[in-house]
Amino acid sequence: AITKIKARQILDSKGIPTVEVDMYTNKGMFRAAAPSGDLDKIYERSELRDGDKGKYLGNSVSKAVRNINEKIAEALIGMDPTLQSQIDHTIMDLDKTESKAELGVNAMLAVSMAACKAGAAEKEVLLCKHIADLSGQSGLILPVPAITVISGGKHAGNNLAAQEIMILPVGANTFEEAMQMGSETYYHLKAIILEKYGSIGCNVGEDGGLAPNITDFREALDLVKEAINRAGCNGRIKMAMDVAATNFCVGNKYDMDFKSPDKSGQVFKTGEEMAEMYAQLCTVIYFVCQTIQFVSIEDPFDRNDWLHTKAFTDLGLCQVVGDHLLSSDPKRLERAIDEASCNGLLLKINQVGTVTDAIEVAKQAKDGNWGVVISHRSGETEDSFIADLAVGLATGQIKAGAPCRGERVAKYNQLLRIEEELGEQAVYAGENWRSPEIL
Ligand code: PGA
Ligand code: ZN
Repeated sequence: AITKIKARQILDSKGIPTVEVDMYTNKGMFRAAAPSGDLDKIYERSELRDGDKGKYLGNSVSKAVRNINEKIAEALIGMDPTLQSQIDHTIMDLDKTESKAELGVNAMLAVSMAACKAGAAEKEVLLCKHIADLSGQSGLILPVPAITVISGGKHAGNNLAAQEIMILPVGANTFEEAMQMGSETYYHLKAIILEKYGSIGCNVGEDGGLAPNITDFREALDLVKEAINRAGCNGRIKMAMDVAATNFCVGNKYDMDFKSPDKSGQVFKTGEEMAEMYAQLCTVIYFVCQTIQFVSIEDPFDRNDWLHTKAFTDLGLCQVVGDHLLSSDPKRLERAIDEASCNGLLLKINQVGTVTDAIEVAKQAKDGNWGVVISHRSGETEDSFIADLAVGLATGQIKAGAPCRGERVAKYNQLLRIEEELGEQAVYAGENWRSPEIL
């Protein structure tokens, strides 16, 4: 049974306060911490921050910590940690608001994850196995990592509007091999950027991607293509991009130079022009160079631009993932599945709030025959929970940043450990990254 819960404020990878929880049971102490994304999360459930400008510029989380140490602890002490859905419902019931702003999603999630770890220990199984049991999933599958190699958008100080360019080592035989391919490609890319743009181009963004000062998406993808070639991974690594277009949508146009301070190079594109550019990226890269394909795009348009998102999805050129568009919200997901607006869900656990809710929303997407990408946030911690979540839910895809920086590799390193632990039984999603169940 749960005997004690103790929360505290710690710092995330951006140096911004977040919530950490220690949960005690007869089996020991289980620790979890909540990640956090960029501000302005209008369709996500709400974090609770103190708003006291004198402390961490308003970002301290002492109220959320107190909610755990007082309200949530009182409700959960004595409960069986293996009963995840009961625990999560108990937490959810403590806050009747739709947005969960009263308790704070940061408070809820940290407790929910800690309970999940305690539950796995109680059953004496791996965390990923416990999650698989909770979700009714039979097979454990190591996901293809979408490794960030170039950062831009709000996550880096260069001029690139798109937020992340990623590589997917789908041709690896194991997760370990995928990480080696990803890491080697990253270092080849670093050398290429050093040659072309000098050492300043090798600064990294919040998720660890390199941040050369370029604006053209095609130029960025070409650099990555060259790195894949140099790494000898031609044909075995595919490319993907998170545009996070909401961040540079002005009215109904897209400002491709939104970070330029003097706005001298301001370039606006319409939704149609953006769609045309993406289609070209898919087809030019696909047809000219058969072996290095551009296979997945996230948030190619504004979070409320359902029309262009659907029209682009209809072209069937690549996986279209909704992050800001869906915000892991079941209602927005339902609409998107009904209207076939896109065909992939970016699942961020702190957008939903509890492990149980995360499992539900993943199932909803899978039932719609969608791809599911388990995702990090720009503000991360050393907690590697999402690694086990991706394996347990057998999503086949995880996005956890660059193959460097502690809070990013914490997830990849945990996946290496899981693969080792599963031994002969370990299955890497590989070419079946979008529908690993068929393995
Ligand atoms: P965020 O970025 O965590 O800052 O929202 C991640 C993403 O957009 O995928
Ligand atoms: Zn995103």
